[in-house]
Amino acid sequence: MTVERTLSIIKPDATRRNLTGAINKCFEDAGLRFVAQKRIRLSAQQAEEFYAVHEERPFYGDLCAFMTSGPVVVQVLEGEDAIAKNREVMGATNPDDAADGTIRKQFAENVEANSVHGSDSAENAAIEIKFFFEDDEIVG
Ligand code: CMP
Repeated sequence: MTVERTLSIIKPDATRRNLTGAINKCFEDAGLRFVAQKRIRLSAQQAEEFYAVHEERPFYGDLCAFMTSGPVVVQVLEGEDAIAKNREVMGATNPDDAADGTIRKQFAENVEANSVHGSDSAENAAIEIKFFFEDDEIVG
């Protein structure tokens, strides 16, 4: 077991419904710790750059528009196997496929407005954390 850090985003559908605390409780109950967190409004350029890997997908434009439609909470989660644990707590991308008790099963509206994002690998976690946070904003 290794202590890892991962990047999490609480998406506009969840901030709009005042679910930040409820979602954070799911992470903390799973043993993940918040070592950085801020509520921001993504610019179109930030959303396009963050999701550039999906540029060719038919949903890319809608996804970027959705991610800039309201505030998001970007956060760094730390814990043993944090990347896998975060993905387990989030559940499958599409809430219809997500397991009972997961964040997306409980809270997501649909596959796009799916309440949370989490890094999918150690490599991407490092890139995504750097995208939003300076080193001195992360306090373990
Ligand atoms: P996320 O984990 O943030 O990574 C990419 C996002 O694209 C994903 O969550 C969903 O919000 C969105 N997404 C993935 N597949 C689809 C789809 N088929 N239709 C619309 N949005 C999607």
